Amino acid sequence: MHVAPAGALQGTTTVPGDKSISHRAVMLGALAEGDTVIENFLPGEDCLSTISCFGKLGVEIQGPEHGRVIVRGRGLSGLSEPDDILDAGNSGTTMRLILGILSGQPFFSVVTGDRSLRQRPMARVTGPLVQMGAHIRGRQGGRLAPLAIQGGCLKPIDYGSPVASAQVKSAVLLAGLFADGVTYVSEPHRSRDHTERMLNYFGANIKVSGNTVQVTGQSRLKGQRVCVPGDISSAAFLMVAAALVPGSDLTIPGIGINPTRSGILDVLLEMGAGIELLNKREEGGEPVADVHVRYAGKLSGVTVAGETIPRLIDEVPALAVAAAAADGTTRIKDAGELKVKESDRIATVAAILRRFGAAVEELPDGLLIMGGRPLQGAICDSQGDHRIAMAAAIAGLVAKGETVIRGAECINVSFPGFAVVLKNIQGK
Ligand code: S3P
Repeated sequence: MHVAPAGALQGTTTVPGDKSISHRAVMLGALAEGDTVIENFLPGEDCLSTISCFGKLGVEIQGPEHGRVIVRGRGLSGLSEPDDILDAGNSGTTMRLILGILSGQPFFSVVTGDRSLRQRPMARVTGPLVQMGAHIRGRQGGRLAPLAIQGGCLKPIDYGSPVASAQVKSAVLLAGLFADGVTYVSEPHRSRDHTERMLNYFGANIKVSGNTVQVTGQSRLKGQRVCVPGDISSAAFLMVAAALVPGSDLTIPGIGINPTRSGILDVLLEMGAGIELLNKREEGGEPVADVHVRYAGKLSGVTVAGETIPRLIDEVPALAVAAAAADGTTRIKDAGELKVKESDRIATVAAILRRFGAAVEELPDGLLIMGGRPLQGAICDSQGDHRIAMAAAIAGLVAKGETVIRGAECINVSFPGFAVVLKNIQGK
């Protein structure tokens, strides 16, 4: 991808549907009774991996076609043994959540993924699932995929997760659907709660109190119509770009602003960005708004830590670009989880920013970004990570000279059409 410095970003643009919600709609749709109709489904590679895995488990799925997917639900006990390996591609959410579901099935299955996913930690999920009674084997003592699962009778557990991870929480809750009794999961900070909201929307018996969620096993799910909001994690790149390029005035309608995901809005506001939320509403159990961003002068550095981190963990690459262009120092702490994303994002964010001439220090649990140095266009590599590629593109818009991003095709994992959207809002 070639990026030239941008003129003001103006007008209105949508972004594709939310990745986390699109995955969950297919999964719960498959386990529900009756049809689930999903609108504004994200046709990114990650969510297509989820569709393909559930197809191999015997679920009839139509689409995506014009954003619509129809899942013919098979009920809690309707999945069938796959005759081939399930491939989650680059998608951690597909692999970790499906592990929860497969643990409850009375059959054998194997899941794998691409090179990046095969290096990502799975023990955080297989650990509690084995405690529930699943038999799971994998490389390095079951810590890495490919993983082989013999599921079956599960017992409920009360699981205290050491990490604030929605994938861990969701895997245990989904396994809990198949257990006999009530399964509890608690976490140190609240992670994204789309699974809880959607389970409730599909009629499961689920309760949330503080940082603990409980689900009653054998709750029946009923197929629903799910309207997927625009993905705040994709919108974040456009929000940062509009906050940095003078003269910008951009509206991004229909964005999910779930409080477990909206940390980026709080932090950009604290940095001085001109952001307003218009037309707030609720769709399918998820809060949604139109996000209006206008250039409001130079941003200032901030400290981001603690409970805010899980609320913007996927937005750190975008935030880091804002920090590099801001006045003063930005410190991102308590974010060791960045090391086990699609790439080691402490290392890859630092490497990308340095290519543009920014001053960055890697911390064991985050980043220190000394903002305000002029950014210079650069030749850089995505390292196969979609959000690193998009962060580099945004940096390229505000840098002097041309930027070339190698391996930018991975953007299709979460934001197909990214380049077209960027061109359209610049009028070129
Ligand atoms: C996700 C949870 C987060 C996030 C990922 C999507 C989800 O991962 O980074 O992109 O859909 O549940 P963790 O559960 O590892 O924090």
